[in-house]
Amino acid sequence: MLAAVVRESGKLETVEVPDPVPGPGQVLVDVEAIGAGYVDVMISRGQYPGATGGAGTVPGVEVVGRVRDGDLAGRRVLAFAGDGGYAEQFVTGASAVLPVPEDADATEVAALGMNALVAHLALRRASAAAGDSVLIRGAGGGIGVLTTQLARAIGADVTAVTSSQARGERLRELGASRIFDRTTAEVPAESYDVVIDTVAGPGTASYLGLLGGNGRYVLAGAAGGMPSDDVVATLLRDFHRSPSLFAFSLNSVAAPDLLRAWEEVTALWQRGELTPVIHDRLKLGEAAHAIELVERGTPFGKVVLLPR
Ligand SMILES: NC(=O)c1ccc[n+]([C@@H]2O[C@H](COP(=O)([O-])OP(=O)(O)OC[C@H]3O[C@@H](n4cnc5c(N)ncnc54)[C@H](OP(=O)(O)O)[C@@H]3O)[C@@H](O)[C@H]2O)c1
Repeated sequence: MLAAVVRESGKLETVEVPDPVPGPGQVLVDVEAIGAGYVDVMISRGQYPGATGGAGTVPGVEVVGRVRDGDLAGRRVLAFAGDGGYAEQFVTGASAVLPVPEDADATEVAALGMNALVAHLALRRASAAAGDSVLIRGAGGGIGVLTTQLARAIGADVTAVTSSQARGERLRELGASRIFDRTTAEVPAESYDVVIDTVAGPGTASYLGLLGGNGRYVLAGAAGGMPSDDVVATLLRDFHRSPSLFAFSLNSVAAPDLLRAWEEVTALWQRGELTPVIHDRLKLGEAAHAIELVERGTPFGKVVLLPR
């Protein structure tokens, strides 16, 4: 089969590799569409917490496809694993798959995928509610565009932090009522009930300091690097306002809770309250280009790879 492999140079090359063989409790999925995201950049660099990654790895943590064998044979699924997704076939645990409607467009499902689950569950972890002011960092990214829509659907007042006027205009169309251009100033002047942060990096403590009384901050990604060391000091400085800081990873969500969240996300999509945002559809042979786009922060929404 074809797969995109990380070379010693750190670049991806799409080459023929042996077909994967599922072990006990695993399924083989014939891939229809592959979600490309910042996780793949970190895995390719060997920087993803808890994963080896680097040279020899086939990145890719989520695919849409059809199960070929075993009890789930014939089922159309969204499937997750630690790597191996940039390929025509994908092997994962039988419990790491979620149902996909037969009539659903595979590209759209891949653009929702784990990003929609993170957006939905991060807002829930923050107990985001109607009337809350919600600030989203990394708003133009794969997770951010969906968080913007879901926060608006809850009835929150959304401030989207992004990197250009053009991205800001698109985020307004998705439900943001305020845009903050991070390239022109360090942080907004207002305070917020909720911050959903997929960027982290050196600015984390400054954004944490924007929480109002009983504010909730969910750290759900690190596209800008690891959070700065002054985060705890900021929490203690603002102690009198009772801020809460949560770290959130899908890896910690139990399978039944993930299934429930996916059913909720799918229902929101089918009701038109959540729209997948696809930056581009590229061939598996263009995987190197796809990951370079993601690394540069160019995409608005999700890059989807198609195996054929
Ligand atoms: N919690 C989980 O379970 C989970 C699951 C999947 C991914 N993640 C993590 O979530 C993060 C985002 O993933 P993603 O797929 O949404 O990434 P993405 O599509 O690359 O989006 C990240 C966005 O963050 C902004 N950004 C990038 N670098 C920045 C910097 N240095 N400073 C400020 N803003 C920056 C950019 O948006 P603007 O230009 O619009 O500002 C960019 O589009 C990654 O770290 C990923 O590993 C977490």
